[in-house]
Amino acid sequence: PRYRIATIPGDGIGMEVVPEGIRVLEAVGRRFDIEFQWDHFDWSCAHYRTHGEMMPDDGLARIRHHDAIFLGAVGFPGVPDHVSLWGLLIPIRRQFRQYIALRPVRLLRGMTSPLAGRTAKDIDFYVVRENNEGEYSEVGGRLFRGTEREMAMQEAVFTRTGTDAVMRYAFELARKRPRKHVTSATKSNGIVHTMPFWDERFASVKQAYPDVSADQYHIDILAAHFVMNPDRFDVVVASNLFGDILSDLGPAVAGSLGIAPGANINPEREFPSMFEPVHGSAPDIAGQGIANPIGQIWSGAMMLEHLGHADAAKAVVDAIETVLGDPASCTRDLGGTASTRECGAAIAIAAAA
Ligand code: NAI
Ligand code: MG
Repeated sequence: PRYRIATIPGDGIGMEVVPEGIRVLEAVGRRFDIEFQWDHFDWSCAHYRTHGEMMPDDGLARIRHHDAIFLGAVGFPGVPDHVSLWGLLIPIRRQFRQYIALRPVRLLRGMTSPLAGRTAKDIDFYVVRENNEGEYSEVGGRLFRGTEREMAMQEAVFTRTGTDAVMRYAFELARKRPRKHVTSATKSNGIVHTMPFWDERFASVKQAYPDVSADQYHIDILAAHFVMNPDRFDVVVASNLFGDILSDLGPAVAGSLGIAPGANINPEREFPSMFEPVHGSAPDIAGQGIANPIGQIWSGAMMLEHLGHADAAKAVVDAIETVLGDPASCTRDLGGTASTRECGAAIAIAAAA
């Protein structure tokens, strides 16, 4: 098969790691008979500085019919982060109804967890984050600016459709895994309207999955358990804000943000889904050729899986694990000596074999 992929390298190290993702996908594609057409879009903070917008008005229409979007990272000093985020990433996530943000938390072979004594069997779960509503809403405002009475308000918005959909996704995912367990992140003791609603919907949705076990924790102790007892988790479902935090904490306990992948999924496939590493544009190391490309490459594996090529996706993850065992092919954030390109090339060779 042949796929049309929209690539948006974005800013900073995004421009360095996306080519490595493409290199590996091309290599594994040759092995599994998968072809890609890469259409590049230069939407970024650089685009903003020349055109006054992160992407053109018809930007979304131009990528609407692609099979998937492969994104690096967006955001760079000089353009406020809320401008870059709301000018590009959030419109794509919302207008393409990518209401699931999926992040695997897995201790790969060759990686060491910062948690003492933890091995691969202890850290293997998914964070499923609601990606379109919840706490990240535009409802609210600021009053009495610059006065003593100054105040800011922001409303969280939870719909039954949106809440049930992310929970169903989590239960369906758990059903396909050996442990078949879903944990809900809540805070219904402190947040008295939306979180009791979240708990009610969780109790209701789980009725349809008698084969899946379920529990729930308040977000504060849940975060502590990620560190103390990561082996408790299989699939963790969370609102937009809680999921955002957990999906950075998770990869951190699995070793490094530089290797963590992410997917923004439209489960109904009415629109393209978007695959991007968890990390940002890393302005502190941008342009030096030392960024770790593994987060981008692993995101490419998630894209293959979404497109229906689980075997090719596994070949990519296996290749990553092979290279993680060889410091000469790893970048310096993992204690290695390789450049971004050398690491990408080593994974491409391993993935093609
Ligand atoms: P960051 O992830 O860019 O960097 C955090 C730290 O991790 C830095 O020290 C960086 O050098 C290191 N790091 C990150 N990725 C790495 C890699 N692949 N290899 C080696 N080291 C790596 O997060 P930060 O500094 O908070 O944000 C920088 C910019 O990126 C901001 O403009 C932010 O808004 C944006 N950002 C964009 C995201 C996206 O496009 N989805 C996600 C997170 C941040
Ligand atoms: Mg985040």
